[in-house]
Amino acid sequence: MPDDIRDRQSPSSRKGPPMKKKIRIAVLGLGWMGQAHSRSALRIPSLFPDRDFDPVLTVCADTDASRRDRATDDFGFARATDDWREAATADDVDAVWVTAPNMMHLPMIEAATAAGKAVFSEKPIGGKPEQTVQAYALAQAAGVPTGVGYNYLWSPLVIHARELIASGALGEITHYRGRFLSMYGSDELGLLTWRFMLDEAGYGVSSDILSHSVSMAQYLVGGIEEVVGMRHTTIGQRPLPTGAASHYGRGNPGDPTGAVENEDFASMLCRFDSGATGTFEVSRTVVGPESQNAFEVYGTKGALAWNLEQINELKYYRTED
Ligand SMILES: NC(=O)c1ccc[n+]([C@@H]2O[C@H](COP(=O)([O-])OP(=O)(O)OC[C@H]3O[C@@H](n4cnc5c(N)ncnc54)[C@H](O)[C@@H]3O)[C@@H](O)[C@H]2O)c1
Repeated sequence: MPDDIRDRQSPSSRKGPPMKKKIRIAVLGLGWMGQAHSRSALRIPSLFPDRDFDPVLTVCADTDASRRDRATDDFGFARATDDWREAATADDVDAVWVTAPNMMHLPMIEAATAAGKAVFSEKPIGGKPEQTVQAYALAQAAGVPTGVGYNYLWSPLVIHARELIASGALGEITHYRGRFLSMYGSDELGLLTWRFMLDEAGYGVSSDILSHSVSMAQYLVGGIEEVVGMRHTTIGQRPLPTGAASHYGRGNPGDPTGAVENEDFASMLCRFDSGATGTFEVSRTVVGPESQNAFEVYGTKGALAWNLEQINELKYYRTED
């Protein structure tokens, strides 16, 4: 083969830009979100040709053996372990992605920040608010880069809404309505997975999806000063799962059941730092909305409304028109 052709075919002999920095990642929990984020890491090279780093899926920790096999066989992780602490603190890891059930987040964040790793944690940071406060303090003290999975804040029209509000286009903000209505728990044969258990999830929808609504409100209109709320469990018993199960998994009539330990519904009235009022409602057991993460924000000169289910539509009312 002529030398010029060999040069073009052999990556090692190709002259090009210097090697990119490697960011070596540990993923703790390869369920729905662990898989989603790992898939995204694999797509970074093809989506961002001008990047100055390359993600490397170094180690995956999961208690489920079939998920560990998927990690190495299908996602290309260099190794997999059932010991999340080993993965979170390993010398060959730069960044830790926390994608395990909520009540595992704080110990995982604690181990990773103590080892000096950058940490991306799925929401809610804690299954209970006091854990979130602790995790924040740990990250601040360690001074490591951090990120949280409030992914909806990155929707282009949500960013545009924030810019409109900040520009004063809506005038003074007087009222905010947030809601996240999902039907993932609406079937009473839906399995009793970790999301329904206090020791694994912490609170129910307050942690799971009210956290999304509140992060959206804080992003758009600022801090919250005062709240009063109500919680309710709609479906008290659910079929017990066998093995690794998703919260969309179903049991059968007559299966053994266990008690749901946290709330299916939560609502909240609040007052923002600015003096604006707010109302929020979230549920995992309504029928109809698949994933209705939505807001309405009202000002003295206009109003906006957005709903994740129509992600590319932002309704804008202006008094001037
Ligand atoms: N940002 C979002 O929109 C979004 C969406 C869904 C879930 N989440 C969050 O992501 C996190 C994970 O949720 P999910 O839906 O992927 O759950 P999941 O049940 O699909 O996955 C959890 C994984 O963690 C593993 N696991 C459990 N205990 C473990 C341990 N001790 N060590 C290692 N692995 C362990 C399980 O085997 C499973 O593979 C939750 O905190 C959830 O709130 C965020």
